[in-house]
Amino acid sequence: MARQHVDHSDIVRFAQDKVNLPKDKASGYRAQARRLRERLDSYLSEHPDFSLKKILMAGSLAKGTPLRSLNDIDMACYISGADTPQEVGDLLEYLAERLRTAFPNFKSDQVTPQTYSVTVSFRGSGLDVDVVPILYDGDPDWYGNLVSQDDGSFLETNIAFHLEFIRKRKKEQERHFAQVARLLKFWVKNVKREREDFRFKSFMVELILAHLCDRGDDFADYPEALQHFFTYVARSNLRERIVFDDYYDPSEVGSFSEPIQIIDPVNQANNVSKLYTNSQAEAIVDAALDAGDAIDATLRAPTKGETVYYWQKVFGPSFSM
Ligand SMILES: Nc1ncnc2c1ncn2[C@@H]1O[C@H](COP(=O)(O)OP(=O)(O)OP(=O)(O)O)[C@@H](O)[C@H]1O
Ligand SMILES: [Mg+2]
Repeated sequence: MARQHVDHSDIVRFAQDKVNLPKDKASGYRAQARRLRERLDSYLSEHPDFSLKKILMAGSLAKGTPLRSLNDIDMACYISGADTPQEVGDLLEYLAERLRTAFPNFKSDQVTPQTYSVTVSFRGSGLDVDVVPILYDGDPDWYGNLVSQDDGSFLETNIAFHLEFIRKRKKEQERHFAQVARLLKFWVKNVKREREDFRFKSFMVELILAHLCDRGDDFADYPEALQHFFTYVARSNLRERIVFDDYYDPSEVGSFSEPIQIIDPVNQANNVSKLYTNSQAEAIVDAALDAGDAIDATLRAPTKGETVYYWQKVFGPSFSM
C-alpha cells in the first residue's frame, strides 16, 4: 500500500506551488544583483585604487536554493586597504559610504548599515540587496574574512568556492539536490513556526545533504531523500563530524570542542556549526525524529486525508494536494 495516496509527484507539485521561488522572479533578482556588480566594475575601471574590490551574489539565490519566501538578495563585498576599519560597526559605516560613492544614483538613505550588513534599498522595484562585508587582503583565490551574520565575528572563508562546492553536488544529482535542499529549508521554517527558539542554518542543511550525496544516497525520489536526511540526523545524533575533501585533506583537520562539527569545506579551521549548543543540537535531532516518523506514517496511512495530515506534520498547514 506504500505511496498510494501521496507520492513523489505530489511532492514535486507541492514544491513548485508552495516551496520554490518561481523562475521568472529568481532571474529578475539575479539580474538586479548583476547590475550592481556591473556598476561597481565600471566604477573600478575608472578608479582602480577604490577599496571595494568586488561584489558578488552569495546565499540562496546564488546557490539555486531560494525559497518562495525569499525577502532579500544576499551579496558579499570584498573590501581592502590600509585604512579599512577592523571593528564591525565602523566597517559597516565605511562600506555604506563607499557603496554610496560607487552607486551615486542611489540616495544616501537608500544605503543603510544594519547590525552585520548594509542594505541597498531599491524602493518599489525588486527586493532589497543585503551586502555583507568581507575583509580582503589580495588573496588570489579570493579567501577573505566574512562578517558572520550570526554574531558579527570574522570567518575566514571563500564564497566563490562555496558556490563551486554546491554546484558540484547539484551536478551530481541534477534538480534533485537543490530541490531536496529547498524542501528541507521549508521543513526548517515550519519547525521554527512551532518552536520559536529552533535554529538550523541553511548552510548546515546543505552541507549535511552534500555529505549524503557524497556517500551515494540517491535523491531522485523526494519522500525517500527526505527520509535519508532525517534518518542520518537521528542516527548520528548530529554528533558525527562532517568533513569534505574538495579543498583540503580531511586527515589534516584538527580537533574541535563544539557539539556539532560540520567543517567549512573551504577552511578546515572553521566549524560552520560552532555556535550550536547541545540543547540546540537535541532540538534538531528531535525535530528530525518527528519528521521521519511522520513520513513513515504517510506510507502506511489508509486514506488520502490521513496521508495529508502526516505530510502537514512535516511541511505545515500549507501542504495540500
Ligand atoms: N559559518 C559560516 N562559515 C562560512 N561561511 C558561511 C557561514 N555561514 C554562512 N556562510 C556563507 O554564507 C552563505 C549564506 O548563508 P546561508 O546558507 O545560511 O543562507 P542562505 O543560503 O542565503 O539561506 P536562507 O534561505 O536561509 O537565507 C553560505 O552559502 C556560505 O557561503
Ligand atoms: Mg539568504
